[in-house]
Amino acid sequence: MVYTQQLPRIIISGTGSAVPPHRLSNPDLEKMVDTSNDWIIERTGISERAISTQYEPLPVLGAVAGHVALKSAGLTAKDIGLIIFANHKSGTFAVPDNATIVQYLLGAECPAHDQNGGCTGGIIAESAGYNALAGKLYAHLMRNPEEEIPHDVLNFKVLVLAGDTLSHVLNYKDRATCILLSDGVGAAVLQFSLDQTVLEKKYGFLGCYLNADGSLGPNLWWKSGVGPQFSSVDGNLTYGGHEAQVKRPDFHMDGQVVFKPAVRMMTEAFEKIVEQEHIDKSSPEYSQMMIDPHQANWRIVDAVRKRTPFAPEQVYAEGIKKYGNNSLGTYMVAQDELHVGGHLYPGRLLAKVAFGAGFIWGADLHRWALNRPKPSQITSDAEKQALVRMYYSKYSEWVSQLCA
Ligand code: COA
Repeated sequence: MVYTQQLPRIIISGTGSAVPPHRLSNPDLEKMVDTSNDWIIERTGISERAISTQYEPLPVLGAVAGHVALKSAGLTAKDIGLIIFANHKSGTFAVPDNATIVQYLLGAECPAHDQNGGCTGGIIAESAGYNALAGKLYAHLMRNPEEEIPHDVLNFKVLVLAGDTLSHVLNYKDRATCILLSDGVGAAVLQFSLDQTVLEKKYGFLGCYLNADGSLGPNLWWKSGVGPQFSSVDGNLTYGGHEAQVKRPDFHMDGQVVFKPAVRMMTEAFEKIVEQEHIDKSSPEYSQMMIDPHQANWRIVDAVRKRTPFAPEQVYAEGIKKYGNNSLGTYMVAQDELHVGGHLYPGRLLAKVAFGAGFIWGADLHRWALNRPKPSQITSDAEKQALVRMYYSKYSEWVSQLCA
């Protein structure tokens, strides 16, 4: 069967982010653990980290980031056909999914679900959003190959969220982790486009590369606090009943061991996605591309950059200094900042690359389709704070039903 009709492409039509304004600085940490401002800046590039207050729980940050992305795309929550929220369950609830709480807060009427994926979860969620759109189109083509694509397919849109509130998980006596990690959520809207320029110039989502190696899992984990526990003395699995349940999740990271695989995996993911999508390395679009890496540590980002031919300004890492490492949020928040800041323009290649617990690593590649947003599409910090208040009020009503 040859399809004579023009098939739509899948683009990012809006971006958003919600990073809590409260900051925990290096001098603050000096008072809490045996560390120093100089050490942290030299080894990580971090000056301060974004920390959520009790009024900014994960679903509220997710709702704000989603709201901002919808405004950026010129849409409302009712336009969305699916919400995918990549997070590490660092909110109050393991069940229900944070995505369904966000769906309720936004007033969307669509399926919604969480997904994990370590710090690569945002890339996996975006790819899952792409697959949901592509799957809807494919199902139509299989059913009615000769019929025009109906509006319910063409209008299907996916809201992708990725981020965490890891400050709720960390032990602020463990200097190996509390100096790095922080809170924040990024968002993107994915939708079909039949715009002639988009079709002709092949703008939009190009592809995703993923890989995993579970043998490295013991270097980066936290316990759920339920299920059989293991003894830290002999490693035996035991089930100790309710008394053995862990109150704090006990975040563990072998930073030094994680460092080298992180550089290798992010570099590999970048090379693989460029090869997979047949990007010509001698082309202007390759030399002018923008890389949006997971900002785990500035030194990791810099080491990856040095393995590419790109100038520092083409490898975006502004977030790590001012927000810290907000897990799956880093590159999704950065994508929003790149869009709002005018660093992306129609036709510019954007590669997001990440690694994280699992280990899982990967990259996705877009040929950006949007112009810099107009002022009317941008949400100011003050407006975001008003949204936090609005969604927190709705969230606390939802929580109060738990006690009814
Ligand atoms: N403050 C001050 N000194 C510290 C310290 C801290 N917070 N943490 C470790 N040190 C000390 C160590 O005790 C060691 O001292 P010694 O030389 O006297 O033994 C020295 O600093 C070097 O420790 P090391 O662990 O080798 O530091 P590092 O350069 O590897 O930096 C990390 C530590 C955690 C910042 C770094 O390994 C890292 O970022 N790793 C990757 C983390 C990551 O990406 N995780 C994934 C999350 S998504």
